[in-house]
Amino acid sequence: MIEVRGLTKTFGSFKAVDDLTFTVQPGIVTGFLGPNGAGKSTTMRMILGLDKPTAGSALVEGVPYAQLDKPLTTVGALLDAKWVHPNRSARAHLQWMAASNGIPKSRVEEVLRLVGLSEVAGKKAGGFSLGMSQRLGLAGALLGDPKVLLFDEPVNGLDPEGIVWIRKFMQRLASEGRTVLVSSHLLSEMALTAERLVVIGRGRLIADTTVADFVAKSSESTVRVRSPQLDALRSALTSAGLTVREDGGADGTAALLVIDTTTDQVGTLAGENGIVLHELASKQGSLEDAFMKITGEDVQYHAEGVQEIMGGAL
Ligand SMILES: Nc1ncnc2c1ncn2[C@@H]1O[C@H](COP(=O)(O)OP(=O)(O)OP(=O)(O)O)[C@@H](O)[C@H]1O
Ligand SMILES: [Mg+2]
Repeated sequence: MIEVRGLTKTFGSFKAVDDLTFTVQPGIVTGFLGPNGAGKSTTMRMILGLDKPTAGSALVEGVPYAQLDKPLTTVGALLDAKWVHPNRSARAHLQWMAASNGIPKSRVEEVLRLVGLSEVAGKKAGGFSLGMSQRLGLAGALLGDPKVLLFDEPVNGLDPEGIVWIRKFMQRLASEGRTVLVSSHLLSEMALTAERLVVIGRGRLIADTTVADFVAKSSESTVRVRSPQLDALRSALTSAGLTVREDGGADGTAALLVIDTTTDQVGTLAGENGIVLHELASKQGSLEDAFMKITGEDVQYHAEGVQEIMGGAL
């Protein structure tokens, strides 16, 4: 388990991480999501004792990282896959890590097998592709057979095959009862990998929930409606206080999009006003829409919406 309480980090007058509180449970993959610069890496570095918090605390299995007896056997991390000695072989790199952490040499072959690097273990790590480097990083994280694992943007730059491999690997680690926290700025990727999400923006907590709940709560439910009495329908909807947008269909048929409502509400209003409907459909927003809306990542492109977006989310 990872417990983050009031965690804060300031660089000069800039708050990179602002009073974050959340818990990461074992047995599932938890996605740590936020746009670029949100504070994900800084938070992970504090959990791993690499950065000192300005305020608050982070506990790994109930203990601050600095007080862990044999850290690698409790928590493993993949922060920067290219952090290896370029002239060392993958095996030598892991053997050096094992030796300096009191981990038996036999475990090196085990983790090489787990990540599928046994056959290239004698090659220099400096010549590895990004995918192979990521696997080597994972092997290092698993060396101490830790209960807690942190991965910072592990699929960045990987090809589709590599992404699927990492995704399945993380889910397997979680199914073994481990605590798995994986950061990403891609909601669509996290939706396929994680069960729960901790979402941050500008260093602050935005959501701590399941993927399904995050999408349901944060995306607007729009209803698309067509009618031969479009004008009457539009005024009935706006009179009821609903927001209505025009939506010309691909076939040229005019339709209305009604924001933040249900098909029940629109259907009832039409019925009460004696309006014929030719189509009534609900459209759930996409994951990416939900993420954009709630983190305000699109702020720079929609300047007028800034206050609304950030005010609503934070
Ligand atoms: N050592 C540092 N000194 C000053 N500012 C820093 C330092 N480290 C991070 N920051 C700033 O803190 C903010 C959060 O950075 P961080 O790397 O934690 O974000 P992130 O969520 O990991 O982003 P990304 O998705 O780009 O990896 C950024 O604005 C960054 O510029
Ligand atoms: Mg980062």
